[in-house]
Amino acid sequence: MEVLGIDVGGSAIKGAVVDADSGLLISAPMQIKTPQPAIPTMVVRAIGELKKQLAWQGAVGCGFPAIVENGKVKTAANIDSSWIGVDLPKMLQAEIATTCKVVNDADAAGIAEMQFGAGVGRMGTVLVLTLGTGIGSALFSRGELVPNLELGHLQMDGAPAEHYASAAVKNNESLSWQEWGGRLDDFLAQVERLLSAELIIIGGGISTEYEKFFPYLSTHAELVPARFYNQAGIVGAAIAVSASN
Ligand code: BGC
Repeated sequence: MEVLGIDVGGSAIKGAVVDADSGLLISAPMQIKTPQPAIPTMVVRAIGELKKQLAWQGAVGCGFPAIVENGKVKTAANIDSSWIGVDLPKMLQAEIATTCKVVNDADAAGIAEMQFGAGVGRMGTVLVLTLGTGIGSALFSRGELVPNLELGHLQMDGAPAEHYASAAVKNNESLSWQEWGGRLDDFLAQVERLLSAELIIIGGGISTEYEKFFPYLSTHAELVPARFYNQAGIVGAAIAVSASN
């Protein structure tokens, strides 16, 4: 099944038409800047614009950076607070008139990695982390997703971990790979105090440079970069909608 996969992020909204049965992109990936303020009406309009640019008529799957329960946005850590309570599939359907499914962005990335990427065939506990504006997390056991895990909000030194070790923090604070790698390692140690995964998959755009920071990480779990890098969210959102049809 072909689906338009969308990944809503803090700086860009990305999309591509995906073959959900193979995980392959059918169109070139496109992206537009996340509108500011990133309020629901403007983001929904931007998604409609992407769909138009891709001349897409079919179903749309969307990864969104918040807790999402049955399509309803429940939190707003890195997004405008007016998102809380929004029924995103309903708003999207009104704007673009097609079947829509919305899931947490890290869950979408995890779904792609488990189905076609670095987690294929892994039946034990697998943790997928996405490092971007925030820190997203997706947990799998026997290949099944436990949705809406929010490890980026573990407290470290009285602040959410994503304020200490996300990819955005590396940029904003001009941290070296070693400094940032050390912070990420502190975060992973905290995670491993709670959770015994056999495999940790590191995703997000920064994972393309994994060779620069993996040497500073000392997890018990096997550690690998995501295979889809920062396209995992698009692919996983497409798989999520195809699985529900
Ligand atoms: C949000 C998560 C999201 C992550 C990555 C966090 O701030 O709470 O739901 O998955 O950012 O975008």
